[in-house]
Amino acid sequence: MLRVGSIVTGDIANLNVLGYLNSPDTELVAVCDVNNQKMVEKLQRWGLRTTKAYTDYKKMVDKEDLDIIEILTPHHLHYPMTEYCANAGVPGISVQKPMAHTITDCVKMIEICKEQNVKLKIFENFRFYPVYLRAKELLDQGIIGDLLNFRIITVLLGGPAMPRDLESLKWRIKVDMCGGGPLIYDDGIHKFSMALWLMGEERVEKVYSWIDYFTAVMEAPSTIFWKYPSKNPDDPPKYGSMEFKFSANLYYPSNYYDCDEFIEITGTKGMMWINQCTAGGNFLSKCPQFPPIVVYVDGEVKSYGEDLVRDWRYSFINSTEHFIKVMNQGGEPIYTGEQGKDLCIFAKMPYISQQQNRSVLWEEINPENEDNRSCVVEEPIDADQSGLTNFYRRKMKDLRKGLKQGLKHKKFIYEFEQ
Ligand SMILES: NC(=O)c1ccc[n+]([C@@H]2O[C@H](COP(=O)([O-])OP(=O)(O)OC[C@H]3O[C@@H](n4cnc5c(N)ncnc54)[C@H](O)[C@@H]3O)[C@@H](O)[C@H]2O)c1
Repeated sequence: MLRVGSIVTGDIANLNVLGYLNSPDTELVAVCDVNNQKMVEKLQRWGLRTTKAYTDYKKMVDKEDLDIIEILTPHHLHYPMTEYCANAGVPGISVQKPMAHTITDCVKMIEICKEQNVKLKIFENFRFYPVYLRAKELLDQGIIGDLLNFRIITVLLGGPAMPRDLESLKWRIKVDMCGGGPLIYDDGIHKFSMALWLMGEERVEKVYSWIDYFTAVMEAPSTIFWKYPSKNPDDPPKYGSMEFKFSANLYYPSNYYDCDEFIEITGTKGMMWINQCTAGGNFLSKCPQFPPIVVYVDGEVKSYGEDLVRDWRYSFINSTEHFIKVMNQGGEPIYTGEQGKDLCIFAKMPYISQQQNRSVLWEEINPENEDNRSCVVEEPIDADQSGLTNFYRRKMKDLRKGLKQGLKHKKFIYEFEQ
């Protein structure tokens, strides 16, 4: 039985814990959070009566003889916590995406885990969402030919969705804690992950972007374009793009965050559309117009994945099960530290492009250029705490308007709590 400890009990811990609660191979022996009240509430919610609670992660690590540690903190803490756990002899460290707030920290995390023979997993769960796994299988079978173009739209919505702790947004708008912003760096990592994995690529060549700070705190509306590297001179060029859009008064229930994703992939002989991810399972999923995967090829439209569960929580459970297997049977975690670092590089490129109004090359995002500050993400000029309050006021106003117009639910309850 693997002994698991988790630092911390914030918003995402509710989903991160599921893979351990369901596992016959692990026991969640301890959790830690500086916020004791929140931690106690979470343990009650998860039905854990024997799990120990600590407010100092170092004490937890020193006392509990852990096999696996989950690090679910704000990003600037990922490196110091990984370093402490690795030096203390914890053999498996799972760090939530993004790997760190700087590339410099990513490199240090890789080095320390290598030195201490630690399995370092970067926890990016979209990579384990059942619909995306099926889409990848189809793409690898060549269903739409060679892949030419990737496009992902994230729609941010009026909800209703799961309630969020306002504190969890405050650190996300601070570049020195987050590494970028809440959308492109924090959430975007998932989407950059899909842009590489689904397309069978490991990196991009260059990125250009427009980022608007309409709400003064979040990077939306924004549009990001990139080119994948050419492997052979005769191959057709390959591009991709990503958009974040606010539709604050769109009635769109989500079991989790108030956003959803739509992907379109163009190949040499067909096209694929992948409908929904984070909010999968809502009424849009149940209508015939939005099957999980749609493919057009040879004059025919076919849909796939209707047999799959469309619930985002399984991406977390699958990802945790994968790590438990790696810890028990060996193998490389998905993602490795190197891959986690690459995702951070990709997710920083749009900010540099916006700041310097030019295309940014992959090689430019590195520890040296962080050190000499030629390529670092800066706080957006107009982002401040009052912007966050204004954003929430606006969201509440839109929600009230939505309720008047027939919106049915204004409060969200987790499906597994009903
Ligand atoms: N995989 C996903 O889809 C997903 C979704 C959301 C968040 N995340 C990631 O999970 C991590 C946490 O995000 P969140 O939304 O849960 O954050 P959060 O703000 O809700 O929670 C952070 C928690 O950290 C605690 N904390 C802060 N400093 C601490 C310290 N020094 N010691 C102990 N506890 C400390 C706070 O009390 C809080 O409970 C981030 O890396 C984030 O990017 C991943």
